[in-house]
Amino acid sequence: MEKVRFGIVGIGKMGSLHCLRFTHGLIKNGTLTAVCDISPERKEWAEKNLKAKGVEFFDDYKSLIDSGKADAVLVATPHYDHPVIATYALSKGLHTLIEKPAGVYTKAIRELNEYAATKPELTFGIMYNQRTNKLYRFAKELVETGRLGEMKRINWIITNWYRPQAYYNQGGWRGTWAGEGGGVLINQCPHQLDLFQWLGGMPSMIRGYAKVGRNRDINVENDVTAYMEYPNGATGVFITSTHDFPGTNRLEIDGDKGKIVIENNKLVFTELEVAESVFNATNKKFMPSIPSHKIVKRMSKVGELAMNVFAQHTGIINNFTNHIVNGEPLIAPGADGIRGLTISNAIHLSSWTGEAVELPIDEDKFIAELEKRKAEEKESSKKKVQ
Ligand SMILES: NC(=O)c1ccc[n+]([C@@H]2O[C@H](COP(=O)([O-])OP(=O)(O)OC[C@H]3O[C@@H](n4cnc5c(N)ncnc54)[C@H](O)[C@@H]3O)[C@@H](O)[C@H]2O)c1
Repeated sequence: MEKVRFGIVGIGKMGSLHCLRFTHGLIKNGTLTAVCDISPERKEWAEKNLKAKGVEFFDDYKSLIDSGKADAVLVATPHYDHPVIATYALSKGLHTLIEKPAGVYTKAIRELNEYAATKPELTFGIMYNQRTNKLYRFAKELVETGRLGEMKRINWIITNWYRPQAYYNQGGWRGTWAGEGGGVLINQCPHQLDLFQWLGGMPSMIRGYAKVGRNRDINVENDVTAYMEYPNGATGVFITSTHDFPGTNRLEIDGDKGKIVIENNKLVFTELEVAESVFNATNKKFMPSIPSHKIVKRMSKVGELAMNVFAQHTGIINNFTNHIVNGEPLIAPGADGIRGLTISNAIHLSSWTGEAVELPIDEDKFIAELEKRKAEEKESSKKKVQ
């Protein structure tokens, strides 16, 4: 089959890197034919870097999609536009890969998913590149094969998304309700919230505390603690921030048959010789320990670590393209985008209302609360979207 012709909408920091993945020949079954951006500066960049390679520039996503130059589109604009552009692309028969997060609020993504489900002939994917990380993939295998046993607890402290004020000042849409739709939950953490549910499943109840503008002049949250409960009685804690330095990135999942810890690019699985529930049924000692052994996986080589970050996104684009060409199973189906976003929206809603939130969330209540914050932002002297 001919190569899949791609158009990239939004060629800012991330979109331009995606362009380079194509122009450096890293996407085996895909080729870049068109790009789109509304910024004159990005147009100049495209003319300088892509025009000679036959890549056409558009300043309007509909013109790119309608041009017939692309079979697939990769959407790398700010978040609110993801479902809007994706729905248009799918309606015009283009395979669609969206950047994370799927969008800002679940209602738009539920509608997008319902629409995408009417187009089963089109591939719909999301850039959850961390699903290609071999440590998380091994954790997924331990969960899915039952080796970890029934989950009791899942805790993630991910406070190493350090972002100084200069970061928030760089792009007009960052750090605002109107431009971004949230802070660390919606921008940095979609990866972890996706993996949190990919490995731990969906919680049934969430109580969240999302602190706005801690040590930063921003309108959105950058310090979050959330407690969750699961249908089987398991509990979870998710902690994140962008102002801790040095930060921590530690994921722990406790199961009946062992415990997974991922930290410092190393996974340690402590596998019990006998499931805790089985041990407990017959044990007579007051403070025993259960015999166990450890399985360790790490990404230790400098090259492997550096390559891993760049290769993750390339891996998702190759997988998406191969799914179109030869049906390779999708690593990150677009429909999954709503799951992490539901957790994110629930943490916000709980924090805003001061109450625990049952899942599925009240989508209209979330939108009403978000709109309140956008209106306050507009009226205040705080940062506006430029
Ligand atoms: N997967 C990852 O690891 C990862 C990393 C960084 C960013 N992202 C995501 O990529 C997206 C873009 O982030 P970024 O850092 O590149 O932002 P950016 O601001 O650098 O780039 C966004 C670009 O989109 C353009 N744009 C805005 N509205 C548009 C429209 N309607 N049509 C066409 N172009 C439009 C802007 O002019 C800008 O050039 C965000 O969703 C972000 O969360 C993902």
